[in-house]
Amino acid sequence: MTKDELKKIVAYEAVDKFVKSGQKIGLGTGSTAIWAIRRVAEHLKSGKLKNILAVTTSLETEIEAERLGIPLRSLNSNDINGHVDVAIDGADEVSSCLSLVKGGGAALFMEKLVAYNADKFVVVVDESKLVPSIGTGFPVPVEVVPVARAVVARRLKSMRADFTIRVGTGKCGPVITDNGNIIFDVLFKTPVDGPDMERLINSIPGVYENGFFSLVRPIVLVAKSDGAIEHLS
Ligand code: A5P
Repeated sequence: MTKDELKKIVAYEAVDKFVKSGQKIGLGTGSTAIWAIRRVAEHLKSGKLKNILAVTTSLETEIEAERLGIPLRSLNSNDINGHVDVAIDGADEVSSCLSLVKGGGAALFMEKLVAYNADKFVVVVDESKLVPSIGTGFPVPVEVVPVARAVVARRLKSMRADFTIRVGTGKCGPVITDNGNIIFDVLFKTPVDGPDMERLINSIPGVYENGFFSLVRPIVLVAKSDGAIEHLS
């Protein structure tokens, strides 16, 4: 199966297994999560799912969910009140102890806010995202308030981390997140402990959020190249 087919079947499985009528759900961002959004819309249209309220994790997801007619609410609305039943999202890397790296699409802040406030956080990936350890492969996105970029750069260098400021495609200059910030893509010289590094980076003044998702236990659905889907938790 192609990578795109794997993304589709694993996202469909997540919706079919974990989303129930009447629930409040979090919709992730990226080329895998988009298939979950489409599946929710399909089930709402056919009547298989009813009374769903969704919170989106990026402008990109919001636009697509609006287009597909999924009822949306803000995380702060009275209906949602800062909590969803289930959040479904992709990941850039999944370690053997289910620590994640996310934010390849620069939407890490809202993704974490929703995932960490979900009863179930379901992560959908194809098997190429499975790695033994994190920190040295896919660069870990760190969202930085622009005025603090030199401060954060200095602190990351003192942690012996290398980084680049992410530059946009289709735009001159740095990528600007939905929150008006920039992204440092950070690589470590040796594998890191996800929970420790997640806390440490967020303790640097000027860091808005980082792409380690290690302080929540996800349910990870993995699409294998033969189309089988493995559940890890
Ligand atoms: C978006 O900011 C990310 O966290 C995505 O969920 C992650 O990059 C995975 O994206 P793909 O499913 O497109 O690989």
